[in-house]
Amino acid sequence: MHRILPDFPGIPALGDPLVITRSDLCARFVCCAWLRDPVVRVAWRELLLSLMPETPASVVDLGCGTGSLAVLLAEAGYEVCGVDLSRRMLALAEDKAAAAEVRVEFRHGDVADPPAGAYDVVLRRHVLWAMPDPAAAVARWVGLLRPGGRLVLIEGRWSTGAGLTAAECEALVRGHRREAHVKKLDDPALWGAEIEDERYVVVS
Ligand SMILES: C[S@@+](CC[C@H](N)C(=O)[O-])C[C@H]1O[C@@H](n2cnc3c(N)ncnc32)[C@H](O)[C@@H]1O
Repeated sequence: MHRILPDFPGIPALGDPLVITRSDLCARFVCCAWLRDPVVRVAWRELLLSLMPETPASVVDLGCGTGSLAVLLAEAGYEVCGVDLSRRMLALAEDKAAAAEVRVEFRHGDVADPPAGAYDVVLRRHVLWAMPDPAAAVARWVGLLRPGGRLVLIEGRWSTGAGLTAAECEALVRGHRREAHVKKLDDPALWGAEIEDERYVVVS
C-alpha cells in the first residue's frame, strides 16, 4: 500500500520524498534509530553471535530490511543471504554492506514463499507477526534449513498491541520442530532504552 507521508525531522530521505511505502517508513526508523548507536550495535552483535553456530556457516535473513543484522553477521565471517520484499530496503542494505566492505547476497522476494535454498541458520527479526499465515510461513522457513540447522526468530508483542507473544511464537515453532527455546530480550542495551513490553528470541 502506498501512502503519502511528510518527511520526518532528522531522518534522511530515501529518494522520492513524498511517496513511500510502509516498508520505507520502517526503513527510515530501522536504519536511522537502531544500529547506528554503538552500544545497541555491540549488544546485537553479542546476542546474534551467541545464537549462531560456529563459522563457516550460511545464514538467510528473511525480511532483512536495511540489512543491519545481515551485515553484522557477514562482518563476523558468516555467508549471508538477505531477502526482502522492498526494493528500497534492499538498496539501503546493499549500501550498508558496501560501506562495511562485506559481501552479502541480497535477493528480492516474498518470505511467505521464499526463494529456494538450504542454510545452516534461518534468521528472522520482526517479520513473523506481520505474515498473513504465520504457521504456513514457519513451515516454509523450516524447509530452508539444512539437516541440523537452526531457526532463530526474534519477535515481540509491543506496547502498541501488535506482534506475537513468546508463547504464541513458541507454539508456532513447535508445530514443526521438536525443540524451541525462548530467551527474553529485556536488556535495555538492545533497544537503546528500558522496555516494558515483551521482546524475545525463539531458537529451535
Ligand atoms: C520491521 S522490518 C525488520 C527488518 C529487519 N528484519 C530488521 O530487524 O532490521 C520488516 C521487514 O520485513 C519486510 N517484509 C515484510 N513482509 C515481507 C514479505 N512478505 N516478504 C519479504 N519481506 C517482507 C519489510 O519490507 C521490512 O523490510
